[in-house]
Amino acid sequence: MRGLIFDLDGVITDTAEYHYLAWRQLAEEEGLSFTREDNEALRGVPRRRSLELLLKGDMRPDDQMSAMMTRKNDYYQAYIEGITPDDLLPGVLDFLREAKASGFKLGLGSASKNARAVCERLGVLTLFDAFGDGYSVVNAKPAPDLFLWVAGSLGLKPDDCAVFEDAEAGIEAALKGGFFTVGVGPESRVGAAHRVIEGLHAAHPREFV
Ligand code: BG6
Ligand code: MG
Repeated sequence: MRGLIFDLDGVITDTAEYHYLAWRQLAEEEGLSFTREDNEALRGVPRRRSLELLLKGDMRPDDQMSAMMTRKNDYYQAYIEGITPDDLLPGVLDFLREAKASGFKLGLGSASKNARAVCERLGVLTLFDAFGDGYSVVNAKPAPDLFLWVAGSLGLKPDDCAVFEDAEAGIEAALKGGFFTVGVGPESRVGAAHRVIEGLHAAHPREFV
């Protein structure tokens, strides 16, 4: 492997709770129920599709959908304002620094339009040689497009890259793209990956040479 590509939410930091709190606030205002369990289905899922899932098929006119997404994003952005390097998941900084020192190219591949702001606050933005986020491609995960875009930006082929992902949709995207795929989290969620790890603290870049 010459390149390592990381999903953000659930791999580098855990913003799932903030997404949950922001969606729950919107759901409460709309008189809808939304549980932590419902939120699990939104892992890795882009904003519009997340709203469709929250509405459980009760779609609204496009201007209302856009207004609801903006409200949710405002709530989310208020939460992420408080992010600091302390919010990196265990082992992440060491893993990224050692990978870079060993000569790997590093890429970020996140569905989030807030990924750049989150990485900046975490203090890791400058470690990435290529940065793919919610603005980079049209077709979101589980389409392979984002990871292919990041690999291309690194000047590498999928064969030369490993992708680290915590979401089922992201694992599917990486496998479809022909990447060596590392699932971060429980077997029940990421078991389809080539290899499963608990978190970056449980692995070392030299294992991916
Ligand atoms: C993914 C998250 O990284 O980004 C999803 O796992 C989220 O929960 C998606 O919906 C889009 O994020 P944003 O910040 O563009 O609304
Ligand atoms: Mg994720």
